[in-house]
Amino acid sequence: MRASARSQVPPFEVMAILDRVAAMHEAGREVLSLCAGEPSGGAPADVRALASELHASGDPLGYTGPLGTAELRQAVADHHRRWYGLDVDARSVAITTGASGAFVLVFLAAFDAGDRVAVVRPGYPAYRNLLHALDLVPIDVPVGPESGFRLTVDALEAAVAAHGPLAGLVLASPANPTGSMVSTGQLAEIVAWCAANDVRFLSDEIYHGITYADPGAEPLGRGTCAWSLDRRTVTVSSFSKYWGMTGWRIGWALLPDDLVGPVDALAGNVALCPPTPSQRAALGAFTERSYAEADRAVEVLAATRRFLFESLGRLGWAPVAPADGAFYLWAGIGDQLGRHRDSVAWCRALLDETGVALVPGTDMDPVDGGGFVRLSFAASMEVVTEAVARIEAFQQQA
Ligand SMILES: Cc1ncc(COP(=O)(O)O)c(C=O)c1O
Repeated sequence: MRASARSQVPPFEVMAILDRVAAMHEAGREVLSLCAGEPSGGAPADVRALASELHASGDPLGYTGPLGTAELRQAVADHHRRWYGLDVDARSVAITTGASGAFVLVFLAAFDAGDRVAVVRPGYPAYRNLLHALDLVPIDVPVGPESGFRLTVDALEAAVAAHGPLAGLVLASPANPTGSMVSTGQLAEIVAWCAANDVRFLSDEIYHGITYADPGAEPLGRGTCAWSLDRRTVTVSSFSKYWGMTGWRIGWALLPDDLVGPVDALAGNVALCPPTPSQRAALGAFTERSYAEADRAVEVLAATRRFLFESLGRLGWAPVAPADGAFYLWAGIGDQLGRHRDSVAWCRALLDETGVALVPGTDMDPVDGGGFVRLSFAASMEVVTEAVARIEAFQQQA
């Protein structure tokens, strides 16, 4: 007997860094970790209050329907009206176990084994690995500094020319690890191209709300919801990032009519339902107080981001992705590698010598990531300031 070929997805390099961070903590060493893909503040107070009441009430918290409670589906629909002015029928909303749970269900519902699905490189590695595990074929579409790390229709055309027709495309805007956002006009072009080429467009909107656009500049606002352009697309989002609820494992998808039935049936079989306590408490995310709390956290991130961009000259990193949104700086360290072979070796040495943990770019970009790092500025300004000072000193010695 043997493990399946489909399960052979590569381990993440960041895991080795995180193991080392844990060992250093245990040994009493102070570590400044800029690895985390999560805001440090946790869930809004109204969510936590609802959760406490719920657990104290003795409510049995049994299963719900596979697509979630009617109340939360409606609340998500209302959220789309608030942020994007969209009229969404609650029956189109699927509550899922995070955006991650939505992707598994939507990949299964929308594609057949062997279908080609395009993903942006650098990008969130779970897309590629999940597609591979589901016997789908991920097609990398490289994006780089020439387009501001933003996907273009030309890049999609090139991918089709090189690999053949696509069945799907996954795009996050803002993206992980680059933070880049496509403008509404660029997104409209991509969505129209997908419609014309019979490509299912999956829009990962998990970082919506965490955006730093200059006043009057595109991309504007919270991000553009793909459903405002075409309801044959799938919008995937989550409570994890804007509301800081990563461990609650709760997110959602807006499903086109033809996918509602298949996702409902699959969701019931895969996990019966999304976690009931989280569904009930997540209602607290949509209060005025919670939106205000989350927006204040974004202001703090914006200040830290400004500091980082001001530090770039001293760090000598290039190219650097725009970080229009999310909380990551994706930066080329090719000129700073010194004695180190690649960003994996550089990050290991940085951690050992200075106690600063960054993620090497190889997880997000298996081809060119050896020259890049991802720095998460979700840590506090104090931590980021100290980390930058240590990185500068490290680079001077290299
Ligand atoms: C781009 C992107 N999509 C999806 C996810 C998954 O998020 P969750 O399952 O917590 O909603 C992440 C997590 O970091 C992410 O960066």
